[in-house]
Amino acid sequence: MSFHIIEQAPARLNRSELAVPGSQPQMFEKAAKSAADVVFLDLEDAVAPDDKAQARKNIIQAIGDIDWGKKQLSVRINGLDTHYMYRDVVDLLEQAGERLDLIMIPKVGTAADVYALDMLVTQVETAKGRKKRVGFELIIETALGMQNVSEIAAASKRNESLHFGVADYAASTRARTTSIGGANADYAVLTEPLEDGSRQTHWGDMWHYAIARMVVAARANGLRPIDGPFGNFSDPDAFRAAARRAAVLGCEGKWAIHPSQIALANEVMSPSEAEVTRAKRILAAMKEAEAQGKGAVSLDGRLIDYASIRQAQVLVEKAEQIAGA
Ligand code: GLV
Ligand code: MG
Repeated sequence: MSFHIIEQAPARLNRSELAVPGSQPQMFEKAAKSAADVVFLDLEDAVAPDDKAQARKNIIQAIGDIDWGKKQLSVRINGLDTHYMYRDVVDLLEQAGERLDLIMIPKVGTAADVYALDMLVTQVETAKGRKKRVGFELIIETALGMQNVSEIAAASKRNESLHFGVADYAASTRARTTSIGGANADYAVLTEPLEDGSRQTHWGDMWHYAIARMVVAARANGLRPIDGPFGNFSDPDAFRAAARRAAVLGCEGKWAIHPSQIALANEVMSPSEAEVTRAKRILAAMKEAEAQGKGAVSLDGRLIDYASIRQAQVLVEKAEQIAGA
């Protein structure tokens, strides 16, 4: 390990993160009773300009009035380039109760964006004597944000998670696609002719680099990497596949833009019983090896060593976190 110790963000379960428009207060109760680990009430892109002020009021009232249970409660504010953002922050922190856990900041482009928000939030929190420090969820969804993702991740002690906003990221990078988070037939290679002369198309994942880049910046700063939306809520198989590939790269959660996606995200982002059992066997085998003075042994015909312990511990810790939630 490096001499540099990575301080971890507060441990919050973040397997599923349900998006709820702030202009649709009739959806709030259902969201509070859902199985989502995190709910974010949206003031940004799901709310039309004329509805922003009312959405703000709806959210402030709902934070205090609704029983959100053990959920993490977040509000997505408008971007720093709008004239809505300052009032989102000021009204929210002056008027909403202490139940608010997180603020989600969209389209973060530079570390200075986070710094500016931290300053504003800190001032209002201090002036109002708020006891709970609100954390930041940062959406990486522009070319500028991705370019600066490492500095952004390190920009504030309030930072807790990075989210990959695939729709805006596609728009910002001018990617030729209109789906939200799905596969694209154009991101493929054509194989050279096989022995029988046939050729095959091998699809790739056009979001691989972006997610992997964000995961590295998040983990290097003790933050949770979370995969963003998947637009086609009528395709649970494709959602599962998208969530799995994000989990394989290190993401620990995925957005749900429809209630049907909550269970899918929770399922994929929870280690399976088989995985946990194997992880526990690895820990037991390594303990035995250590007692015999060995640093590496074989289990089921495969090598395991001290790195295997760390991998296994991550899985077991996650399973314990879920069990304790
Ligand atoms: C989320 O905000 C996205 O743009 O995908
Ligand atoms: Mg977006």
